[in-house]
Amino acid sequence: MPERIKVNGYTSKYQRSIRLINGSENEGCWDLMKGGAFNLYYSQPDKQWLKVPQGGDYEYRICRSLPPQHDALELAGLNAEKDMTRIVHVYPGNTKSLLMPHLGDTIESTLKDISNHPDKDKWIDIVSEIYYYAWLQAQALLINGGWWFDDPNPGNIIRHKTKQPVLIDFSNNKIRSSANAFSQNELEKKFLKQMKKNGLRGWWD
Ligand SMILES: Nc1ncnc2c1ncn2[C@@H]1O[C@H](COP(=O)(O)OP(=O)(O)OP(=O)(O)O)[C@@H](O)[C@H]1O
Ligand SMILES: [Mg+2]
Repeated sequence: MPERIKVNGYTSKYQRSIRLINGSENEGCWDLMKGGAFNLYYSQPDKQWLKVPQGGDYEYRICRSLPPQHDALELAGLNAEKDMTRIVHVYPGNTKSLLMPHLGDTIESTLKDISNHPDKDKWIDIVSEIYYYAWLQAQALLINGGWWFDDPNPGNIIRHKTKQPVLIDFSNNKIRSSANAFSQNELEKKFLKQMKKNGLRGWWD
């Protein structure tokens, strides 16, 4: 029985051998970390994530998420990671999937880690500031590229170790819906809702 691994607050459920075609072909062992509309696999040796759509229009969504994900990585100054973030073909099944390097802890996993920390209050200030920068990035993506970051839950924001936070998960169904349907105001409401829900402080507090 393979050892279970823990990444970003998720414990692996089982291991699977997956063949990837991405220019070249390679086969490796991946740990399923999270199931759902997308299965999220992690490769410990390569420190990579693989997001595999499970039917429906999810394959279309994953392909459509690549350009905004590339822009989000560029915005965070992560050009090498941008080059490594690709759509690959996953076998068996020949499913188009998103391959991404591990970018670090999420705000979600950080909040779990600090829940009993003696310096929790100080940490909440730090995480709140990171969340504020994430909000600025989401606005920049909307204004510059017309990309809509639909779900600013703390699991979709990476606390990158050296640079800016990174937004992930653009595989929603409304990334580019009708022009002007989404505004900075709506975006701010989404961020404020998540801040309240997760006990983060506002930059006005
Ligand atoms: N490149 C990455 N670097 C670090 N962690 C990642 C990366 N990609 C995915 N993850 C981890 O996997 C989790 C799930 O990924 P993602 O948000 O893309 O999928 P999801 O199934 O759409 O999740 P949800 O619907 O709950 O938002 C993230 O919250 C994060 O913990
Ligand atoms: Mg997500």
